[in-house]
Amino acid sequence: MHPILQLLDGVLDEVRPRTEGATAAYIPELAHADPDPLAFAVATARGRVLSVGDDRVEFTMQSISKPFVLALALHELGRDRVLAHVGVEPSGEPFNAISLEEGTGRPANPLVNAGAIATTSLIAGDDIDTRTARIVAMLSAFAGRSLWIDEAVYRSESATGDRNRALAHLLRSYGLLGSEVDPAVETYFRQCAVLVTVRDLAVMSATLAFGGVNPVTRERVVSEDVARDVVSIMSSCGMYDSSGEWMLRVGLPAKSGVSGGLVAVSPSQFGVAAFSPRLDAHGNSVRASAIVERLASDFGMHVFEPHEAVAEPGIEVDEGAEGTTVRLGGELGFAGAEFVVTMLRETVAARGADAAAITVDARELARLHPAALAVLRTELAALGGAVRLRD
Ligand code: DON
Repeated sequence: MHPILQLLDGVLDEVRPRTEGATAAYIPELAHADPDPLAFAVATARGRVLSVGDDRVEFTMQSISKPFVLALALHELGRDRVLAHVGVEPSGEPFNAISLEEGTGRPANPLVNAGAIATTSLIAGDDIDTRTARIVAMLSAFAGRSLWIDEAVYRSESATGDRNRALAHLLRSYGLLGSEVDPAVETYFRQCAVLVTVRDLAVMSATLAFGGVNPVTRERVVSEDVARDVVSIMSSCGMYDSSGEWMLRVGLPAKSGVSGGLVAVSPSQFGVAAFSPRLDAHGNSVRASAIVERLASDFGMHVFEPHEAVAEPGIEVDEGAEGTTVRLGGELGFAGAEFVVTMLRETVAARGADAAAITVDARELARLHPAALAVLRTELAALGGAVRLRD
């Protein structure tokens, strides 16, 4: 057995006995769902998906669709136009609250229902089917396979969705909906009813974790800027009125859904997903939350853990016939550039007149951040040609 699968299995065994919580009562089709399935998956940088438990069971995305539809809106309209309709502040309130900004009526953020309905209403398309098709295509690109809608869950939510319809009417009264109420709400109900497995969710989350590129299909789904915006909003708003405590204890941007799914993003490392239908009072899955919490605390995945590789890039010094070559590897960020500058200064000082023969070779860097490049260029200019840069 793969060692990572063994770890995942161990976590699953720990949370399996927990049976507190209940399936979502307000959507009849979800209320009757089997409460027992339990699954956990991670997707890696190389596109490997490792999963345990009931990993083939399909369930509807519900609110987990929200960050991915937000990605589509940001991709289609740009940040400023989206932010004209919806804010980015944690609401501190339940997911279905009337969290509208005083004066403007803007919903607090795109991950509460009001904000998600506003976001969905911005997606281009003349009718519900066209908009839905655009959304499903985007969700499918994130997942790396064609997804479809559970019609029974869609109908069940549409038949009982008066609160969301009321939110949409309020938004429309403030001029914040991009369409009429019906197309906005019915499209929103459809996106919530898209079927996935925990493996799909892990890949979707990994696509955000790796800057908008799906690690399985290698397709660029959204830009790095869009992926970063979405993950940022997930980190402050993804778990509704428990978002602050979640970031403190778990430290991974996440999004939950009332059918029991949960995605968490470990930037540049993993996409994580878990599934178990019983929910806590916030509408977050009890066991899926426990799984991700355990993963993060046991394996040091909190985003604010220190990461030394960023501050200390790979440096190899070659003394060749044409002089000294300093080869940089890995990732060179702002902090790493300071490290390189110190090292170059020391080398130049030690060499004196021979300094002209130093070359900094940056061609092997997996990633050179703009700030690091600016620092290097400024330093090389100050050294007056004593050091050359190859990039
Ligand atoms: O709009 C709703 O109420 C549902 N379709 C989605 C809510 C949801 O998933 C909240 N998240 N935990």
